[in-house]
Amino acid sequence: MGLMQLAAQVLELLALVFLFLLGLAVLLAAALFVVDRVQAGDAIRRNYPVIGRFRHIFKALGEFFRQYFFAMDREEMPFNRAQRDWVGRAARGGGNTVAFGSTRNLGITGTPIFVNAAFPPLDDQFAHTQPMLIGPDARQPYLARSIFNISGMSFGALSRPAVQALSRGAQKAGVWLNTGEGGLSPYHLEGGADIVFQIGTAKYGVRDGKGDLCDDRLREVAAQAQVKMFEIKLAQGAKPGKGGILPAEKVTPEIAATRGIPEGQASISPNRHREADDFGDLLDLVAHVREVTGKPVGFKTVVGSAQGLRVLFELIQGRGGDDAPDFIAIDGGEGGTGASPMPLMDLVGMSIREALPLVADLRDEFGLRDRIRLIASGKLVNPGDVAWALCAGADFVVSARGFMFSLGCIQAMKCNRNTCPTGITTHDPRLQRGLVPEEKFRKVACYARGVVHEVETIAHSVGVGEPRQMRRKHVRIVQENGKSVPMNELYP
Ligand SMILES: Cc1cc2nc3c(=O)[nH]c(=O)nc-3n(C[C@H](O)[C@H](O)[C@H](O)COP(=O)(O)O)c2cc1C
Repeated sequence: MGLMQLAAQVLELLALVFLFLLGLAVLLAAALFVVDRVQAGDAIRRNYPVIGRFRHIFKALGEFFRQYFFAMDREEMPFNRAQRDWVGRAARGGGNTVAFGSTRNLGITGTPIFVNAAFPPLDDQFAHTQPMLIGPDARQPYLARSIFNISGMSFGALSRPAVQALSRGAQKAGVWLNTGEGGLSPYHLEGGADIVFQIGTAKYGVRDGKGDLCDDRLREVAAQAQVKMFEIKLAQGAKPGKGGILPAEKVTPEIAATRGIPEGQASISPNRHREADDFGDLLDLVAHVREVTGKPVGFKTVVGSAQGLRVLFELIQGRGGDDAPDFIAIDGGEGGTGASPMPLMDLVGMSIREALPLVADLRDEFGLRDRIRLIASGKLVNPGDVAWALCAGADFVVSARGFMFSLGCIQAMKCNRNTCPTGITTHDPRLQRGLVPEEKFRKVACYARGVVHEVETIAHSVGVGEPRQMRRKHVRIVQENGKSVPMNELYP
């Protein structure tokens, strides 16, 4: 057979394959056309059969491509590229300098602008951030080393390797790790970090057979030297008034055992602690847990109105300092979570930017500044956010998603589906393979240290020796007319 004949036969074969595939595509399109026309659930596909399907495909693809190609550096929500990249750079531990000039628009209402000192301290005139005592009246007060710590994320919402990396990273950086409401697992402890045990409304990890608080279990947890404080969770910013939600596919045997619940069933916690109907009950609960554990006890909440909290402070004053919580953690309405109904996420709870100054003012008005520590959270993931919070009156800042970014989170927004592509919020072993705790813990530590270091840089720039010396006069807030006003004038 000549070369020409062979080429002709190959071409003929290719033409046949092409015609076959074309025929198949036409048949498929015809079948889809009929399916789309007949179905009644989707109006676009019913009116524009086959072509209407592309809308769904592009919508799904847009979610991915926007992040890479189309969204500007300061545009995305909940966190924009500039914020995420800062965490990424800090977590890699390299230099965190940028070139040419700021891409931040300084005219946007609410933007904090720090007040530089004409004569900032010289390098040998400032100190590093000092440790701060929490719960001076508890049998075992806690001397917390870092201003920036890891906020509650449960083992369940987070994967095993994520908890392991956080635990080791927290130890390396000297920051505390809050367990979130899912109980205490060996993975929290294995790194040797300071632990804040969160008591959620379902009392996971410290519950009896009926789901009530069990003092014996509390004592067992408190006996762990690493457990430094207990946080009673009233609410978190992403779902105030709603309990935790862990989908059934995430309730593995290990997670079920840690929480003390049946495996494979969705884990829904009550909307509030059954034994706490009002602030009086809450103070009783705080005092009880402190008595049983001997360690500092506080609570985490979201501010709906300042009026509500005033009642609490009046009550504390009335009872005397003994029943006061050792700390109050304020989570802003912008807080994140593994799973929450959208209306609660979007619409309920005051932003930390508004709530924190109000609570700090109330605390000071009642003379409780040295007794009750304030912990703030809610998208406070970059040094400027943390420095703002310290100026506003916080003693500590905690972050959840900042630390998720340090673990490699790409904001795929799939925490509730067990399909997290980075292995952080999934229990699928195939996806968890990507998250190597022995490597990632370094990034966690670098990020925590990086934030503290840069907050110290801001503090020195405004002319004080260390971050907690910053006051409201050190930050100006841009107003609607484009002019900035010192924060101490906004909240005298
Ligand atoms: C995956 C995930 C799980 C969380 N789990 C809890 C939890 O168990 N208990 C809690 O009080 N808050 C939980 N939170 C809320 C965080 O602790 C934090 O209050 C909130 O996300 C605000 O901080 P951020 O803006 O730095 O993320 C969770 C958040 C995330 C993202």
